[in-house]
Amino acid sequence: PVLVVDFGAQYAQLIARRVREAQVYSEVVPHTMPVSEMVARDPAAIVLSGGPSSVYADGAPQIDPALFDQGIPVFGICYGFQAMARALDGGVEHTGTREYGRTDLSVVGDGGTLHQDLPAGHPVWMSHGDCVTKAPEGFTVTATSAGAPVAAFEDTARRFAGVQYHPEVLHSPHGQEVLRRFLHEVAGLRPQWTTSSIVDDSVEAVRAQVGEGRAICALSGGVDSAVAGALVHRAIGDRLTCVFVDHGLLRAGERTQVERDFVAATGVRLVTVDAADRFLSALAGVTDPEEKRKIIGREFIRVFEQAARDLQAEAGESGEHFDYLVQGTLYPDVVESGGGTGAANIKSHHNVGGLPDDLKFDLVEPLRALFKDEVRRVGLELGLPETIVHRQPFPGPGLGIRIIGEVTAHNLEILRAADSIAREELTAAGLDRDIWQCPVVLLADVRSVGVQGDGRTYGHPVVLRPVSSEDAMTADWTRLPYDVLERISTRITNEVSEVNRVVLDVTSKPPGTIEWE
Ligand code: XMP
Repeated sequence: PVLVVDFGAQYAQLIARRVREAQVYSEVVPHTMPVSEMVARDPAAIVLSGGPSSVYADGAPQIDPALFDQGIPVFGICYGFQAMARALDGGVEHTGTREYGRTDLSVVGDGGTLHQDLPAGHPVWMSHGDCVTKAPEGFTVTATSAGAPVAAFEDTARRFAGVQYHPEVLHSPHGQEVLRRFLHEVAGLRPQWTTSSIVDDSVEAVRAQVGEGRAICALSGGVDSAVAGALVHRAIGDRLTCVFVDHGLLRAGERTQVERDFVAATGVRLVTVDAADRFLSALAGVTDPEEKRKIIGREFIRVFEQAARDLQAEAGESGEHFDYLVQGTLYPDVVESGGGTGAANIKSHHNVGGLPDDLKFDLVEPLRALFKDEVRRVGLELGLPETIVHRQPFPGPGLGIRIIGEVTAHNLEILRAADSIAREELTAAGLDRDIWQCPVVLLADVRSVGVQGDGRTYGHPVVLRPVSSEDAMTADWTRLPYDVLERISTRITNEVSEVNRVVLDVTSKPPGTIEWE
């Protein structure tokens, strides 16, 4: 792999994704990893990421100069560029000139391999206080900017290069091309990381792990479990059984999407457990959000556990049993829980932590090395429909945390009707890809007076919560066109008799969360 050394900024994962967009496999490793350990991974190249600190700050992460004696190509970015210059005895100074944001980059001379034929002055994204004032011996300076006398350098003989700016962000329009040139032309790597190779390699890996064993996969209706299930099915066929727990808190059409569309696309063996009544009884009288979440989580584990036991019992009759549990863990979870090498990580432990001891499964995590966009591409490659692959996020506790008040069959029916109108209109307006998600929330505890036909009504409001986001950590409310809002409002109040008011949530996150509970 290409190792992306994380110096603690938020950019390392983004860099890893960009490397993969250049069709070269990459992994993120912490800067504390000793050089010997990096070398042991046989890296095709090493990319040093940006970092938060000045190379001169107390405790600033350094690079072991031994890294440059291994014959491995190295590319330094921002902090990594400065740390590289310092380790190789170039000059790095705290000049007091800072550059933040968009800056014009001037190509020096012919621009070398990385910047050749790029526009003489072109915009890049900078974020630095210190700067490299002198390139190390053997390096050629290939670009400069107002605040960075040395903004790019390269030593193609030793296959080293670096840039002061952030090539990984979209605000550096030629950044991806520069990164691609480093990987393909300087480091000499071949573009082999393609969707079909990901599928082939993953299928191989699952076969190698599971052998003749059997696996269970819990489908949630979401993208990750669907793609993980489809991939494992491709690898082991009918030795995989998918379990779909219908907790009765799903939106209109979601069960059909799993039972009909997913099965039609994959041919997977599916067991649906209809547990709506059980969840409703457990939720009766409960209005506290955390309480609801706990109950739903607990019941889910219990139902799944029972389904797994039933399957074990059935399989046991023919002398077989299930040894593996498929999980849709993604690479960002692996990186964030400090993993990458170990067999299991914190998150998956948490996810299966609720299962009792007599249900011992080994985990199969076929998406462990993948970013979300790669998971979607793999899903399409495996023939899953767009409706599943590009599904917007939907919380595990489902509509249970979108009813403010008690979760009852009646309230669920009202919310499901309002929600499906909102979704229909957003889809018809072509807005699905513009919004991150749009929860519809029923204020079951609130009543408002209205007038419909000739009569006074005393119904409930619903809230539309359209948000735009990159990762759900922060979000902004989406400025939906008024005519779309109008159609949603009119239709909901006309077609759902219990609702006489539609309101729009115009709160960003923070301070609001995306969901209301
Ligand atoms: P909040 O409300 O915290 O939501 O801003 C952030 C994102 O996470 C989703 N969400 C959940 N997803 N289980 C999930 O699988 C949950 O309990 C849960 N709670 C919130 C939410 O829809 C949004 O995308």
